[in-house]
Amino acid sequence: MPTDLFMKESKNPYIPFGDRQDSPFYGKDILSVKQFTRQDLEYIFGVAHEMREMVQRVGSFDLLKGKILANLFYEPSTRTSSSFTSAMERLGGSLIPINEVHYSSVAKGESLPDTVRTLECYADVIVLRHPEVGASADAAKYARKPIINAGDGIGEHPTQALLDLFTIYEELGEVDGLTVTMLGDLKYGRTVHSLARLLSLYKVEINYVSPEILKIPSEIIDEVDSKGIPQAEFTSLEPVMPMTDVLYVTRVQKERFEKLSDYELVKSAFTITLETLTIAKERMIIMHPLPRVGEISMEVDNDPRAAYFRQMEYGLYVRMALLAMVLGKS
Ligand code: CP
Repeated sequence: MPTDLFMKESKNPYIPFGDRQDSPFYGKDILSVKQFTRQDLEYIFGVAHEMREMVQRVGSFDLLKGKILANLFYEPSTRTSSSFTSAMERLGGSLIPINEVHYSSVAKGESLPDTVRTLECYADVIVLRHPEVGASADAAKYARKPIINAGDGIGEHPTQALLDLFTIYEELGEVDGLTVTMLGDLKYGRTVHSLARLLSLYKVEINYVSPEILKIPSEIIDEVDSKGIPQAEFTSLEPVMPMTDVLYVTRVQKERFEKLSDYELVKSAFTITLETLTIAKERMIIMHPLPRVGEISMEVDNDPRAAYFRQMEYGLYVRMALLAMVLGKS
């Protein structure tokens, strides 16, 4: 058996029969939204849209039959973990679920490089969530199989940002020309870091609304600014609600605070209610990566502008597209 059998595209891979070596993401890691061009996004969303139609028409199909995904989660997850599981199974593949690393050899002190080198012996692709910024990029240095970043501490959550943007496309039909308002914990919220970067590929305006101690990091502002995107920061929602097309609400991330007293000060800074929406556009959407812990009142759930439950379903289609693409089947 050749030693390069499982190597990534950059390492001249063996292409199994039926795989698409011309697929632009074949064998590639998905580590950061910085790796995507607007053309890439259009390609991904095209495949995701096809996945949506296929699921609605036939439910499951055997595109990834014989392929195996390892889900390696060092932090809790409901949506990311279960949507990757569902995506793989709907595509006919199968799964090694390590959703609780304390029951794996990580509990015996096994390092991340050794853990991914183990899992790639058994799987074709590894989805990794880890509390440290850059953990997925580190893992990718050691792994010969594709690594998909499912959240690295307060760093990035690229597949979430892709599904967020896909949600905007599917719900509003366009991204150019929109005003996007991000609200809540913009300091620790990795989803907003990734989404702001992706949005900077479009002609949008971005508002950031947060308590002073949870402002968006300056490096994100600088990166987005370098693309010529108008941005503004606020500590209350009222001034920007009337012109907002997408309100992206986030949870205050208790687990990231060094001092619990700081969390207590800001944990209830914002709550979206039906009253909040009285000054909102009729045609706009409210998004949230979820879980929520009180930032959006349940009374909002039945408003047609509440897109956060539909957003989770769009995540399935985007993750089906990503798995198919990195495994050369799109
Ligand atoms: N949005 C998101 O990442 O949710 P989970 O933490 O449940 O995966």
